[in-house]
Amino acid sequence: MPAIVVLGAQWGDEGKGKATDLLATSETIHYVVRTSGGHNAGHTIVVNGEKYATHLLPSGILTPGATSVIANGVVVSPEALFRELDGLLERGVELGGLVVSANAHVIASYHSTIDKVTERFLGKNQIGTTGRGIGPAYADKINRVGIRVADLFDEGILRQKVDAALDVRNHLLTKVYNRRAVDVDAVVEELVSYADRLRPMVADTSLLLNEALDEGRTVLFEGAQATMLDVDHGTYPFVTSSNAIAGGVCTGAGVGPTRIDRVIGVIKAYSTRVGSGPFPTELFDQDGIDLQTLGGEIGVSTGRTRRCGWYDAVVARYAARVNGLTEFFLTKLDILGAWDEIPVCVAYEIDGKRVDEMPMTQTEFHHAKPVYEMFEGWKSDISGCRSFADLPTQAQAYVTALEGMSGARIWGVGVGPGREQTLTVHD
Ligand code: GDP
Ligand code: IMO
Ligand code: MG
Repeated sequence: MPAIVVLGAQWGDEGKGKATDLLATSETIHYVVRTSGGHNAGHTIVVNGEKYATHLLPSGILTPGATSVIANGVVVSPEALFRELDGLLERGVELGGLVVSANAHVIASYHSTIDKVTERFLGKNQIGTTGRGIGPAYADKINRVGIRVADLFDEGILRQKVDAALDVRNHLLTKVYNRRAVDVDAVVEELVSYADRLRPMVADTSLLLNEALDEGRTVLFEGAQATMLDVDHGTYPFVTSSNAIAGGVCTGAGVGPTRIDRVIGVIKAYSTRVGSGPFPTELFDQDGIDLQTLGGEIGVSTGRTRRCGWYDAVVARYAARVNGLTEFFLTKLDILGAWDEIPVCVAYEIDGKRVDEMPMTQTEFHHAKPVYEMFEGWKSDISGCRSFADLPTQAQAYVTALEGMSGARIWGVGVGPGREQTLTVHD
């Protein structure tokens, strides 16, 4: 299976890092590729009890022998990139190779300033972004005033581009937001300071990956963010600024859709969301607090508490549809061991009517009330289970029921954060 996509099927933090790491260590994976987003992501990998978090780097960086690729669809903060690399090197981690696309857009410190100022300006309508400058960097890209990695290697061109990018931005900052203008020279100096270290890593990653696939090598595309945060298919405007769905892999890597063999949707056995926006199964009672506490639902990038709710099969079916999922990887089943009964949202009720699929409009989605079906809990610790047959019958029934209502088969189940705490459902 040469090209595998791993992506988030809910609102992020489903365990994509763990799923990627698991695949990268259990199969021979030659390349692990990030194709969208930037250091707004926070992916956790636990190896022999040691916890690692990757943000901009693909999780494959921890797999010796695999080459990590940051492809053209990613927005790259060179500062964040080297901070992350140095952090891992300081911990004595043996790192795999790293290649960065010449066409990836660059995040400079002013993008993050604009991100935070814009959020403040939005007041109660704010998105709750990570403040990493993701939206403003993608906005520059779409406005055709973005800076790309290759621009860092020609100071003359870089200066012209920074000048053009800051022209309108500085009017906005000074006249609308009442802030100081960003100095062109300071930005050029900031970006040029990373050029020498970055240069040996830069390549045409579309060519690299297509040649690798031609040679029968295995390429794993590690999604960031998630389906419901996708700028086209998520809960707009409460989304990130990139295409986090499977289609984003093709544009974000320069690899055609016919080359993709498997699309794995990572999904939690319940739901979480960070930041603002609609979330039909969100809990505001003790169950929500318990899911948050037992699940350790605190953001890896921002340290924010995640909002928690029950599993939403409407979201799962939607993710299966818009991504063309070939399978799901179900994580955090172990967290549900404390409940006598576990509700699962099987449909919505919107203005008195039952709706089985994702509603067409955001207004309807805001009005959606979950229709729950109850499942018997297993009231035990399943973190030591290593096969589907080891699971209590109630847990097996829960997984089988989710599979039946979610639109794709469940390939694997996570019963703990460790690499080994995983079991396969179908052999
Ligand atoms: P990502 O952004 O999708 O990679 O997910 P995060 O790393 O932000 O959040 C997922 C969290 O769940 C991390 O703390 C993981 O270590 C943890 N995790 C992943 N799979 C499992 C699982 O099956 N059980 C438990 N208990 N934790 C898990
Ligand atoms: P991983 O890859 C969860 C959310 C932010 C905010 C919205 C927009 O770890 O699953 P942005 O900074 O991207 O402009 O913020 O998207 N968000 C995430 N939520 N997991 C993530 O990444 C996220 N990346 C962005 O909280 O609501
Ligand atoms: Mg995360």
